[in-house]
Amino acid sequence: MVVLSAFTLWSALVALEASASVTIRKTGRAPTGYEVDFRYVNTTAKRVIIGGGIQPFTDQFHTTGTSFRFNGRYDPRDYQPGDFYVSNPSPQLPAEPAYKWPYEMNSTDDGVWTYTAPLPSGIYSFAYLVNCNYAPNCSIDTGHLVVDPDLRPFMNVQGDQVASSFQVPFDAQFQASPELNTNFDYALDAPDPARNRGTVKTVNYTSPGSLHPAPDVHDFGLYLPAEYGRVPAKKYPLLYLSHGAGGNGADWENLGRMSHIVDNLIRLGHIPPTVVVTPSFYNLDAAGGKFVYGNKSANASVPVPTAQHVRENFEKYLFPWVEEHYDVCREATCRAFAGLSMGGVLTYEMFVNATDKFDYFGMFSPATNAPYIGAADVARNPGLLKKGIMVAYGLYDFVFPQARDLQTALDGLGIRYVNRVTPFGSHYWNTWQDELWWFGVKVLWKKTPSTVQTGRERKGE
Ligand SMILES: *[C@@H]1O[C@H](CO)[C@@H](O)[C@H](O)[C@H]1NC(C)=O
Ligand SMILES: *[C@@H]1O[C@H](CO)[C@@H](O)[C@H](O)[C@H]1NC(C)=O
Ligand SMILES: *[C@@H]1O[C@H](CO)[C@@H](O)[C@H](O)[C@H]1NC(C)=O
Ligand SMILES: *[C@@H]1O[C@H](CO)[C@@H](O)[C@H](O)[C@H]1NC(C)=O
Ligand SMILES: *[C@@H]1O[C@H](CO)[C@@H](O)[C@H](O)[C@H]1NC(C)=O
Ligand SMILES: *[C@@H]1O[C@H](CO)[C@@H](O)[C@H](O)[C@H]1NC(C)=O
Ligand SMILES: *[C@@H]1O[C@H](CO)[C@@H](O)[C@H](O)[C@H]1NC(C)=O
Repeated sequence: MVVLSAFTLWSALVALEASASVTIRKTGRAPTGYEVDFRYVNTTAKRVIIGGGIQPFTDQFHTTGTSFRFNGRYDPRDYQPGDFYVSNPSPQLPAEPAYKWPYEMNSTDDGVWTYTAPLPSGIYSFAYLVNCNYAPNCSIDTGHLVVDPDLRPFMNVQGDQVASSFQVPFDAQFQASPELNTNFDYALDAPDPARNRGTVKTVNYTSPGSLHPAPDVHDFGLYLPAEYGRVPAKKYPLLYLSHGAGGNGADWENLGRMSHIVDNLIRLGHIPPTVVVTPSFYNLDAAGGKFVYGNKSANASVPVPTAQHVRENFEKYLFPWVEEHYDVCREATCRAFAGLSMGGVLTYEMFVNATDKFDYFGMFSPATNAPYIGAADVARNPGLLKKGIMVAYGLYDFVFPQARDLQTALDGLGIRYVNRVTPFGSHYWNTWQDELWWFGVKVLWKKTPSTVQTGRERKGE
Protein backbone atom coordinates (compact mmCIF):
# COMPACT_ATOMS: atom_id res chain seq x y z
CA MET A 1 0.00 0.00 0.00
CA VAL A 2 2.17 2.79 -1.32
CA VAL A 3 -0.22 5.61 -0.60
CA LEU A 4 -1.12 4.33 2.84
CA SER A 5 2.47 4.09 4.03
CA ALA A 6 3.21 7.63 2.91
CA PHE A 7 0.04 8.84 4.57
CA THR A 8 0.86 7.15 7.87
CA LEU A 9 4.28 8.75 7.90
CA TRP A 10 2.75 12.15 7.32
CA SER A 11 0.11 11.74 10.00
CA ALA A 12 2.79 10.78 12.48
CA LEU A 13 4.75 13.88 11.63
CA VAL A 14 1.75 16.15 11.90
CA ALA A 15 0.98 14.73 15.34
CA LEU A 16 4.23 16.25 16.59
CA GLU A 17 3.10 19.88 16.80
CA ALA A 18 5.36 22.34 14.98
CA SER A 19 8.00 19.73 14.33
CA ALA A 20 9.52 21.89 11.61
CA SER A 21 9.39 25.46 10.40
CA VAL A 22 10.94 27.86 7.96
CA THR A 23 10.95 31.55 8.86
CA ILE A 24 12.00 34.28 6.46
CA ARG A 25 13.13 37.44 8.30
CA LYS A 26 13.95 40.87 6.92
CA THR A 27 17.13 41.92 8.71
CA GLY A 28 18.13 45.17 7.03
CA ARG A 29 21.76 44.07 7.08
CA ALA A 30 24.38 42.45 4.88
CA PRO A 31 24.90 40.22 3.15
CA THR A 32 21.37 39.88 1.67
CA GLY A 33 18.96 41.86 3.87
CA TYR A 34 17.13 38.62 4.73
CA GLU A 35 17.75 35.59 6.86
CA VAL A 36 16.03 32.24 6.73
CA ASP A 37 15.70 30.06 9.85
CA PHE A 38 15.05 26.34 9.50
CA ARG A 39 13.98 24.40 12.57
CA TYR A 40 13.32 20.68 12.61
CA VAL A 41 12.71 18.36 15.55
CA ASN A 42 14.09 14.83 15.41
CA THR A 43 15.27 13.27 18.65
CA THR A 44 16.86 10.19 17.07
CA ALA A 45 18.76 11.81 14.19
CA LYS A 46 22.56 11.84 14.35
CA ARG A 47 23.05 14.35 11.59
CA VAL A 48 20.69 16.51 9.54
CA ILE A 49 21.55 18.52 6.46
CA ILE A 50 19.24 20.47 4.19
CA GLY A 51 19.21 19.30 0.60
CA GLY A 52 17.01 17.89 -2.09
CA GLY A 53 16.87 21.10 -4.14
CA ILE A 54 18.64 23.89 -2.28
CA GLN A 55 22.10 24.62 -3.71
CA PRO A 56 25.29 26.52 -2.99
CA PHE A 57 25.90 29.72 -4.94
CA THR A 58 28.18 30.69 -7.78
CA ASP A 59 28.72 33.83 -9.84
CA GLN A 60 29.07 34.65 -13.51
CA PHE A 61 32.83 34.95 -13.31
CA HIS A 62 33.30 31.47 -11.84
CA THR A 63 30.80 29.35 -13.75
CA THR A 64 31.94 27.48 -16.81
CA GLY A 65 28.58 26.18 -17.98
CA THR A 66 30.38 23.18 -19.43
CA SER A 67 32.19 21.53 -16.55
CA PHE A 68 30.26 21.49 -13.31
CA ARG A 69 33.41 20.44 -11.48
CA PHE A 70 35.03 23.83 -11.98
CA ASN A 71 32.16 26.07 -10.90
CA GLY A 72 32.64 28.26 -7.85
CA ARG A 73 30.41 26.90 -5.04
CA TYR A 74 29.92 29.41 -2.28
CA ASP A 75 28.30 29.10 1.10
CA PRO A 76 25.25 31.40 1.33
CA ARG A 77 26.90 33.12 4.29
CA ASP A 78 29.57 34.35 1.85
CA TYR A 79 26.95 35.81 -0.49
CA GLN A 80 27.92 38.72 -2.75
CA PRO A 81 25.58 40.68 -5.04
CA GLY A 82 25.26 38.92 -8.39
CA ASP A 83 25.61 35.44 -6.88
CA PHE A 84 23.10 32.89 -8.11
CA TYR A 85 22.33 29.23 -7.68
CA VAL A 86 24.99 26.86 -8.93
CA SER A 87 24.06 24.62 -11.81
CA ASN A 88 23.19 21.30 -10.32
CA PRO A 89 21.05 18.53 -11.55
CA SER A 90 21.87 16.77 -8.28
CA PRO A 91 24.36 14.02 -9.15
CA GLN A 92 26.80 16.56 -10.53
CA LEU A 93 27.91 17.89 -7.16
CA PRO A 94 30.65 15.77 -5.64
CA ALA A 95 29.67 13.87 -2.54
CA GLU A 96 31.39 14.17 0.81
CA PRO A 97 34.14 13.89 1.85
CA ALA A 98 35.32 15.48 -1.42
CA TYR A 99 33.01 18.42 -0.89
CA LYS A 100 31.64 19.98 2.33
CA TRP A 101 27.95 20.67 1.91
CA PRO A 102 27.13 24.13 3.34
CA TYR A 103 23.61 23.43 4.63
CA GLU A 104 24.55 21.64 7.84
CA MET A 105 22.08 21.89 10.72
CA ASN A 106 23.11 22.48 14.35
CA SER A 107 21.54 20.38 17.08
CA THR A 108 20.78 20.71 20.74
CA ASP A 109 20.46 17.81 23.17
CA ASP A 110 16.68 17.82 22.95
CA GLY A 111 16.71 16.97 19.25
CA VAL A 112 15.99 20.45 17.91
CA TRP A 113 17.89 21.00 14.67
CA THR A 114 18.43 24.56 13.45
CA TYR A 115 20.06 26.29 10.56
CA THR A 116 20.17 30.01 9.77
CA ALA A 117 21.58 31.64 6.66
CA PRO A 118 21.20 34.84 4.66
CA LEU A 119 19.57 33.78 1.40
CA PRO A 120 19.03 36.10 -1.57
CA SER A 121 15.89 36.50 -3.70
CA GLY A 122 14.68 33.34 -5.38
CA ILE A 123 12.85 30.07 -5.01
CA TYR A 124 14.25 27.37 -2.76
CA SER A 125 13.08 23.80 -2.63
CA PHE A 126 14.37 21.46 0.01
CA ALA A 127 13.92 18.44 2.26
CA TYR A 128 15.68 17.39 5.45
CA LEU A 129 18.33 14.73 4.85
CA VAL A 130 18.58 12.66 8.00
CA ASN A 131 21.76 10.61 8.54
CA CYS A 132 22.36 10.79 4.82
CA ASN A 133 24.92 13.01 3.14
CA TYR A 134 24.10 12.82 -0.55
CA ALA A 135 20.60 13.76 -1.69
CA PRO A 136 20.38 11.40 -4.67
CA ASN A 137 20.92 8.49 -2.27
CA CYS A 138 18.50 9.60 0.48
CA SER A 139 15.14 7.88 0.23
CA ILE A 140 11.80 9.00 1.63
CA ASP A 141 10.92 5.35 2.27
CA THR A 142 13.72 4.77 4.75
CA GLY A 143 13.25 8.08 6.60
CA HIS A 144 16.48 9.52 5.23
CA LEU A 145 14.63 12.21 3.33
CA VAL A 146 11.95 14.05 5.30
CA VAL A 147 9.59 16.54 3.70
CA ASP A 148 8.85 19.53 5.95
CA PRO A 149 5.53 18.60 7.59
CA ASP A 150 4.62 22.24 8.16
CA LEU A 151 5.44 23.51 4.71
CA ARG A 152 3.63 21.01 2.61
CA PRO A 153 4.25 20.78 -1.07
CA PHE A 154 1.42 21.21 -3.53
CA MET A 155 0.74 17.69 -4.75
CA ASN A 156 -1.38 15.85 -7.24
CA VAL A 157 -1.32 12.68 -5.23
CA GLN A 158 -0.09 12.09 -1.69
CA GLY A 159 3.64 11.43 -1.86
CA ASP A 160 4.23 12.66 -5.38
CA GLN A 161 6.37 15.65 -4.35
CA VAL A 162 9.44 15.18 -2.20
CA ALA A 163 10.39 18.81 -1.63
CA SER A 164 8.84 21.88 0.00
CA SER A 165 9.50 25.33 -1.38
CA PHE A 166 9.58 28.97 -0.32
CA GLN A 167 10.47 32.28 -1.93
CA VAL A 168 12.80 34.90 -0.47
CA PRO A 169 12.21 38.58 -1.39
CA PHE A 170 14.68 40.89 -3.08
CA ASP A 171 16.37 43.72 -1.18
CA ALA A 172 17.87 46.27 -3.57
CA GLN A 173 20.15 47.70 -0.87
CA PHE A 174 22.09 44.45 -0.50
CA GLN A 175 21.36 42.37 -3.56
CA ALA A 176 21.51 44.80 -6.48
CA SER A 177 24.04 43.75 -9.10
CA PRO A 178 24.28 46.25 -11.95
CA GLU A 179 25.24 43.64 -14.54
CA LEU A 180 22.82 40.90 -13.58
CA ASN A 181 19.23 41.14 -12.42
CA THR A 182 18.60 38.55 -9.73
CA ASN A 183 15.32 40.02 -8.48
CA PHE A 184 12.68 37.28 -8.48
CA ASP A 185 9.94 39.24 -6.73
CA TYR A 186 7.48 38.54 -9.55
CA ALA A 187 7.07 35.13 -7.88
CA LEU A 188 6.14 36.50 -4.44
CA ASP A 189 2.54 36.36 -3.22
CA ALA A 190 0.47 39.02 -4.97
CA PRO A 191 -0.90 41.71 -2.62
CA ASP A 192 -4.64 42.02 -1.95
CA PRO A 193 -5.46 38.29 -2.12
CA ALA A 194 -9.20 38.55 -2.81
CA ARG A 195 -8.58 40.74 -5.81
CA ASN A 196 -5.34 39.29 -7.17
CA ARG A 197 -4.79 35.70 -6.17
CA GLY A 198 -6.14 32.88 -8.25
CA THR A 199 -6.73 29.36 -6.97
CA VAL A 200 -4.74 26.21 -7.68
CA LYS A 201 -5.97 22.67 -7.35
CA THR A 202 -5.64 19.19 -8.72
CA VAL A 203 -8.24 17.87 -11.10
CA ASN A 204 -8.87 14.27 -12.18
CA TYR A 205 -10.09 13.67 -15.71
CA THR A 206 -11.17 10.68 -17.71
CA SER A 207 -8.28 9.32 -19.73
CA PRO A 208 -8.77 5.75 -20.96
CA GLY A 209 -5.65 3.64 -20.44
CA SER A 210 -4.22 5.90 -17.74
CA LEU A 211 -2.28 4.11 -14.99
CA HIS A 212 -2.26 6.89 -12.44
CA PRO A 213 -3.73 8.07 -10.12
CA ALA A 214 -6.28 5.34 -10.91
CA PRO A 215 -7.07 3.17 -13.92
CA ASP A 216 -8.49 5.35 -16.72
CA VAL A 217 -8.14 8.45 -14.53
CA HIS A 218 -5.37 10.98 -15.10
CA ASP A 219 -4.77 14.33 -13.42
CA PHE A 220 -3.54 17.88 -13.96
CA GLY A 221 -2.89 21.03 -11.96
CA LEU A 222 -5.37 23.84 -12.56
CA TYR A 223 -4.96 27.58 -11.99
CA LEU A 224 -8.10 29.68 -12.16
CA PRO A 225 -7.54 33.46 -12.08
CA ALA A 226 -9.12 35.46 -9.25
CA GLU A 227 -11.76 36.83 -11.58
CA TYR A 228 -12.87 33.38 -12.76
CA GLY A 229 -16.54 32.71 -11.99
CA ARG A 230 -17.31 36.35 -11.28
CA VAL A 231 -18.08 37.43 -14.83
CA PRO A 232 -21.06 35.55 -16.27
CA ALA A 233 -20.37 33.65 -19.51
CA LYS A 234 -16.83 34.98 -19.87
CA LYS A 235 -14.41 32.60 -21.60
CA TYR A 236 -10.76 32.78 -20.55
CA PRO A 237 -7.56 32.32 -22.54
CA LEU A 238 -5.96 28.97 -21.79
CA LEU A 239 -2.29 28.16 -21.25
CA TYR A 240 -1.03 24.57 -21.04
CA LEU A 241 2.24 24.43 -19.14
CA SER A 242 4.20 21.17 -19.10
CA HIS A 243 6.73 19.77 -16.64
CA GLY A 244 9.93 17.99 -17.73
CA ALA A 245 11.47 14.52 -17.43
CA GLY A 246 11.03 12.95 -14.00
CA GLY A 247 8.38 15.48 -13.02
CA ASN A 248 4.64 15.84 -13.00
CA GLY A 249 1.82 18.36 -13.18
CA ALA A 250 2.34 19.54 -9.60
CA ASP A 251 5.90 20.71 -10.27
CA TRP A 252 5.03 24.06 -11.79
CA GLU A 253 3.16 25.05 -8.67
CA ASN A 254 5.31 23.39 -6.04
CA LEU A 255 8.75 24.12 -7.45
CA GLY A 256 7.98 27.09 -9.72
CA ARG A 257 5.25 29.01 -7.85
CA MET A 258 3.40 29.23 -11.14
CA SER A 259 0.23 30.70 -9.60
CA HIS A 260 2.16 33.58 -8.01
CA ILE A 261 3.86 34.42 -11.29
CA VAL A 262 0.58 34.32 -13.22
CA ASP A 263 -1.19 36.36 -10.50
CA ASN A 264 1.50 39.02 -10.89
CA LEU A 265 1.44 38.94 -14.70
CA ILE A 266 -2.31 39.58 -14.54
CA ARG A 267 -2.16 42.12 -11.72
CA LEU A 268 0.46 44.21 -13.50
CA GLY A 269 -1.48 44.15 -16.76
CA HIS A 270 0.95 42.03 -18.78
CA ILE A 271 -1.73 39.47 -19.64
CA PRO A 272 -5.51 39.33 -19.21
CA PRO A 273 -6.87 36.81 -16.67
CA THR A 274 -5.81 33.39 -17.98
CA VAL A 275 -6.57 29.79 -17.02
CA VAL A 276 -3.49 27.55 -16.70
CA VAL A 277 -3.48 23.76 -16.94
CA THR A 278 -0.32 21.88 -15.88
CA PRO A 279 -0.73 18.36 -17.26
CA SER A 280 1.27 15.23 -16.44
CA PHE A 281 2.84 13.30 -19.29
CA TYR A 282 3.78 10.11 -17.44
CA ASN A 283 1.48 7.15 -16.81
CA LEU A 284 -0.84 8.05 -19.64
CA ASP A 285 -0.93 4.38 -20.58
CA ALA A 286 1.09 1.19 -20.45
CA ALA A 287 3.16 2.19 -23.50
CA GLY A 288 5.45 4.33 -21.33
CA GLY A 289 5.62 2.01 -18.33
CA LYS A 290 4.52 2.94 -14.85
CA PHE A 291 6.38 5.85 -13.31
CA VAL A 292 6.10 6.46 -9.58
CA TYR A 293 6.58 10.13 -8.87
CA GLY A 294 9.36 11.10 -6.51
CA ASN A 295 9.98 7.53 -5.37
CA LYS A 296 13.59 6.65 -5.97
CA SER A 297 13.22 3.03 -4.92
CA ALA A 298 10.46 2.46 -7.46
CA ASN A 299 11.06 2.71 -11.16
CA ALA A 300 12.74 6.01 -11.88
CA SER A 301 14.19 4.71 -15.11
CA VAL A 302 10.90 4.55 -16.98
CA PRO A 303 11.55 6.30 -20.27
CA VAL A 304 9.85 9.57 -21.12
CA PRO A 305 6.98 8.75 -23.49
CA THR A 306 7.54 10.14 -26.98
CA ALA A 307 6.22 13.63 -27.63
CA GLN A 308 4.06 12.28 -30.44
CA HIS A 309 2.46 9.76 -28.10
CA VAL A 310 1.75 12.43 -25.47
CA ARG A 311 0.37 14.87 -28.04
CA GLU A 312 -2.01 12.28 -29.45
CA ASN A 313 -3.18 11.33 -25.98
CA PHE A 314 -3.72 14.93 -24.88
CA GLU A 315 -5.55 15.76 -28.12
CA LYS A 316 -7.84 12.82 -27.60
CA TYR A 317 -8.60 13.10 -23.88
CA LEU A 318 -7.16 16.16 -22.11
CA PHE A 319 -7.96 19.07 -24.44
CA PRO A 320 -11.64 18.16 -25.03
CA TRP A 321 -12.17 17.48 -21.33
CA VAL A 322 -10.75 20.84 -20.28
CA GLU A 323 -12.85 22.70 -22.84
CA GLU A 324 -15.95 20.89 -21.77
CA HIS A 325 -15.52 21.54 -18.04
CA TYR A 326 -14.16 25.10 -17.81
CA ASP A 327 -14.97 28.52 -19.16
CA VAL A 328 -12.07 28.59 -21.56
CA CYS A 329 -12.08 29.90 -25.07
CA ARG A 330 -11.92 27.46 -27.93
CA GLU A 331 -9.94 29.23 -30.62
CA ALA A 332 -6.25 28.97 -31.33
CA THR A 333 -5.92 32.74 -30.83
CA CYS A 334 -6.49 32.33 -27.10
CA ARG A 335 -4.73 29.00 -26.56
CA ALA A 336 -1.05 28.50 -25.75
CA PHE A 337 1.24 25.56 -25.06
CA ALA A 338 4.54 25.87 -23.20
CA GLY A 339 6.82 23.55 -21.30
CA LEU A 340 10.28 23.06 -19.87
CA SER A 341 12.98 20.66 -21.01
CA MET A 342 11.16 17.50 -22.23
CA GLY A 343 8.05 19.68 -21.93
CA GLY A 344 9.84 22.01 -24.38
CA VAL A 345 10.16 19.03 -26.73
CA LEU A 346 6.43 18.41 -26.31
CA THR A 347 5.81 22.09 -27.09
CA TYR A 348 7.83 21.76 -30.28
CA GLU A 349 5.75 18.68 -31.15
CA MET A 350 2.57 20.70 -30.59
CA PHE A 351 4.02 23.47 -32.76
CA VAL A 352 4.75 21.19 -35.72
CA ASN A 353 1.88 18.72 -35.43
CA ALA A 354 -0.92 20.54 -33.59
CA THR A 355 -0.10 23.85 -35.26
CA ASP A 356 -3.69 24.96 -35.70
CA LYS A 357 -4.69 24.29 -32.10
CA PHE A 358 -2.49 26.99 -30.55
CA ASP A 359 -1.28 30.43 -31.58
CA TYR A 360 1.36 30.67 -28.83
CA PHE A 361 4.25 28.38 -27.98
CA GLY A 362 6.80 28.72 -25.19
CA MET A 363 9.80 26.40 -25.54
CA PHE A 364 11.61 26.70 -22.22
CA SER A 365 15.04 25.04 -22.03
CA PRO A 366 13.90 22.75 -24.84
CA ALA A 367 15.75 19.44 -24.98
CA THR A 368 14.93 19.15 -28.68
CA ASN A 369 17.06 17.27 -31.18
CA ALA A 370 17.51 17.23 -34.94
CA PRO A 371 16.03 16.54 -37.39
CA TYR A 372 14.01 19.75 -37.27
CA ILE A 373 11.33 20.81 -39.69
CA GLY A 374 12.45 21.97 -43.12
CA ALA A 375 11.24 24.13 -45.98
CA ALA A 376 8.91 21.40 -47.26
CA ASP A 377 7.13 21.26 -43.88
CA VAL A 378 6.64 25.02 -43.88
CA ALA A 379 5.34 24.94 -47.45
CA ARG A 380 2.84 22.26 -46.48
CA ASN A 381 1.94 23.91 -43.16
CA PRO A 382 2.19 27.71 -43.56
CA GLY A 383 0.58 28.18 -40.13
CA LEU A 384 4.09 27.59 -38.72
CA LEU A 385 4.97 31.12 -39.85
CA LYS A 386 2.07 32.79 -38.04
CA LYS A 387 2.66 32.03 -34.38
CA GLY A 388 3.73 33.83 -31.24
CA ILE A 389 6.81 31.92 -30.10
CA MET A 390 9.39 32.16 -27.36
CA VAL A 391 12.58 30.11 -27.32
CA ALA A 392 14.20 30.48 -23.91
CA TYR A 393 17.05 28.83 -22.06
CA GLY A 394 19.71 29.63 -19.52
CA LEU A 395 23.21 30.80 -20.26
CA TYR A 396 24.49 27.84 -18.20
CA ASP A 397 21.73 25.45 -19.24
CA PHE A 398 22.96 22.02 -20.24
CA VAL A 399 20.51 22.10 -23.15
CA PHE A 400 22.03 25.37 -24.40
CA PRO A 401 23.49 23.63 -27.51
CA GLN A 402 20.17 21.98 -28.31
CA ALA A 403 18.19 25.19 -27.89
CA ARG A 404 20.72 26.96 -30.12
CA ASP A 405 20.30 24.31 -32.82
CA LEU A 406 16.54 24.75 -32.63
CA GLN A 407 16.99 28.49 -33.12
CA THR A 408 19.27 27.92 -36.09
CA ALA A 409 16.62 25.66 -37.65
CA LEU A 410 13.84 28.22 -37.10
CA ASP A 411 16.05 31.06 -38.37
CA GLY A 412 16.77 29.09 -41.53
CA LEU A 413 13.05 28.81 -42.21
CA GLY A 414 12.23 32.43 -41.48
CA ILE A 415 10.16 31.47 -38.43
CA ARG A 416 10.34 34.41 -36.05
CA TYR A 417 10.37 34.06 -32.28
CA VAL A 418 11.21 36.03 -29.17
CA ASN A 419 14.39 34.85 -27.50
CA ARG A 420 15.28 34.89 -23.82
CA VAL A 421 18.67 33.74 -22.60
CA THR A 422 18.39 33.84 -18.82
CA PRO A 423 21.72 35.36 -17.81
CA PHE A 424 22.12 33.46 -14.52
CA GLY A 425 20.26 30.44 -15.76
CA SER A 426 21.01 26.81 -15.42
CA HIS A 427 18.60 23.91 -15.98
CA TYR A 428 16.53 24.68 -12.88
CA TRP A 429 13.48 26.43 -11.54
CA ASN A 430 14.82 29.99 -11.21
CA THR A 431 15.38 29.82 -14.98
CA TRP A 432 11.91 28.45 -15.74
CA GLN A 433 10.28 31.02 -13.48
CA ASP A 434 12.16 33.70 -15.41
CA GLU A 435 11.10 32.17 -18.73
CA LEU A 436 7.43 31.96 -17.74
CA TRP A 437 7.58 35.55 -16.53
CA TRP A 438 9.07 36.86 -19.80
CA PHE A 439 6.82 34.65 -21.90
CA GLY A 440 3.89 36.45 -20.23
CA VAL A 441 5.44 39.90 -20.53
CA LYS A 442 6.64 39.61 -24.12
CA VAL A 443 4.67 36.98 -26.02
CA LEU A 444 1.50 35.63 -24.47
CA TRP A 445 -1.70 36.89 -26.11
CA LYS A 446 0.25 39.59 -27.99
CA LYS A 447 -0.04 40.21 -31.71
CA THR A 448 1.08 37.31 -33.91
CA PRO A 449 3.26 36.35 -35.65
CA SER A 450 6.28 37.21 -33.54
CA THR A 451 8.33 40.00 -35.10
CA VAL A 452 11.05 42.30 -33.88
CA GLN A 453 8.23 44.54 -32.57
CA THR A 454 6.71 41.78 -30.42
CA GLY A 455 6.70 42.66 -26.76
CA ARG A 456 7.53 46.31 -27.45
CA GLU A 457 3.89 47.37 -27.45
CA ARG A 458 2.76 49.63 -24.66
CA LYS A 459 0.59 47.91 -22.10
CA GLY A 460 -3.06 47.79 -23.07
CA GLU A 461 -2.41 48.21 -26.81
C1 LIG B 1 25.50 26.75 14.59
O1 LIG B 1 25.72 27.12 15.93
C2 LIG B 1 26.83 28.01 16.12
C3 LIG B 1 27.03 28.17 17.61
O2 LIG B 1 25.84 28.62 18.23
C4 LIG B 1 26.52 29.32 15.41
O3 LIG B 1 27.60 30.21 15.52
C5 LIG B 1 26.29 29.04 13.93
O4 LIG B 1 25.92 30.23 13.27
C6 LIG B 1 25.21 28.00 13.77
N1 LIG B 1 25.13 27.65 12.36
C7 LIG B 1 24.02 27.83 11.61
C8 LIG B 1 24.17 27.47 10.18
O5 LIG B 1 22.96 28.24 12.02
C1 LIG C 1 25.14 6.51 -3.64
O1 LIG C 1 24.60 5.27 -4.06
C2 LIG C 1 25.38 4.63 -5.05
C3 LIG C 1 24.61 3.41 -5.54
O2 LIG C 1 24.13 2.67 -4.45
C4 LIG C 1 26.74 4.30 -4.46
O3 LIG C 1 27.53 3.67 -5.44
C5 LIG C 1 27.41 5.57 -4.00
O4 LIG C 1 28.64 5.28 -3.35
C6 LIG C 1 26.53 6.32 -3.03
N1 LIG C 1 27.12 7.62 -2.79
C7 LIG C 1 27.26 8.14 -1.55
C8 LIG C 1 27.95 9.45 -1.47
O5 LIG C 1 26.80 7.60 -0.56
C1 LIG D 1 13.90 11.09 12.46
O1 LIG D 1 14.95 10.45 11.81
C2 LIG D 1 14.70 9.07 11.55
C3 LIG D 1 15.96 8.51 10.94
O2 LIG D 1 16.96 8.51 11.91
C4 LIG D 1 13.53 8.93 10.64
O3 LIG D 1 13.26 7.57 10.41
C5 LIG D 1 12.32 9.57 11.28
O4 LIG D 1 11.23 9.54 10.40
C6 LIG D 1 12.63 11.01 11.64
N1 LIG D 1 11.55 11.57 12.40
C7 LIG D 1 10.95 12.74 12.10
C8 LIG D 1 9.93 13.19 13.08
O5 LIG D 1 11.21 13.38 11.12
C1 LIG E 1 -8.08 11.61 -8.02
O1 LIG E 1 -8.14 10.21 -8.03
C2 LIG E 1 -7.35 9.59 -7.04
C3 LIG E 1 -7.41 8.09 -7.26
O2 LIG E 1 -8.71 7.65 -7.32
C4 LIG E 1 -7.86 9.98 -5.66
O3 LIG E 1 -7.03 9.39 -4.67
C5 LIG E 1 -7.78 11.49 -5.55
O4 LIG E 1 -8.33 11.90 -4.31
C6 LIG E 1 -8.55 12.15 -6.69
N1 LIG E 1 -8.30 13.58 -6.62
C7 LIG E 1 -9.24 14.49 -6.73
C8 LIG E 1 -8.81 15.91 -6.64
O5 LIG E 1 -10.42 14.20 -6.89
C1 LIG F 1 8.31 3.44 -3.38
O1 LIG F 1 8.49 2.31 -4.19
C2 LIG F 1 8.78 1.15 -3.48
C3 LIG F 1 9.12 0.03 -4.48
O2 LIG F 1 8.11 -0.10 -5.45
C4 LIG F 1 7.60 0.80 -2.56
O3 LIG F 1 7.90 -0.35 -1.80
C5 LIG F 1 7.36 1.98 -1.62
O4 LIG F 1 6.22 1.75 -0.83
C6 LIG F 1 7.16 3.26 -2.42
N1 LIG F 1 7.07 4.38 -1.47
C7 LIG F 1 6.22 5.42 -1.62
C8 LIG F 1 6.30 6.50 -0.57
O5 LIG F 1 5.44 5.50 -2.54
C1 LIG G 1 11.97 -0.24 -14.78
O1 LIG G 1 11.77 0.26 -16.09
C2 LIG G 1 12.65 -0.31 -17.02
C3 LIG G 1 12.44 0.42 -18.34
O2 LIG G 1 11.08 0.43 -18.70
C4 LIG G 1 12.36 -1.80 -17.12
O3 LIG G 1 13.26 -2.38 -18.02
C5 LIG G 1 12.53 -2.43 -15.75
O4 LIG G 1 12.15 -3.78 -15.79
C6 LIG G 1 11.70 -1.73 -14.72
N1 LIG G 1 12.02 -2.23 -13.40
C7 LIG G 1 11.10 -2.46 -12.45
C8 LIG G 1 11.62 -2.94 -11.13
O5 LIG G 1 9.90 -2.28 -12.63
C1 LIG H 1 4.80 15.90 -37.42
O1 LIG H 1 5.29 16.94 -38.24
C2 LIG H 1 6.50 16.61 -38.91
C3 LIG H 1 7.00 17.85 -39.60
O2 LIG H 1 6.05 18.34 -40.48
C4 LIG H 1 6.25 15.45 -39.86
O3 LIG H 1 7.45 15.06 -40.46
C5 LIG H 1 5.68 14.28 -39.05
O4 LIG H 1 5.34 13.25 -39.93
C6 LIG H 1 4.48 14.70 -38.26
N1 LIG H 1 4.09 13.61 -37.40
C7 LIG H 1 2.86 13.10 -37.43
C8 LIG H 1 2.62 11.96 -36.52
O5 LIG H 1 1.99 13.53 -38.15
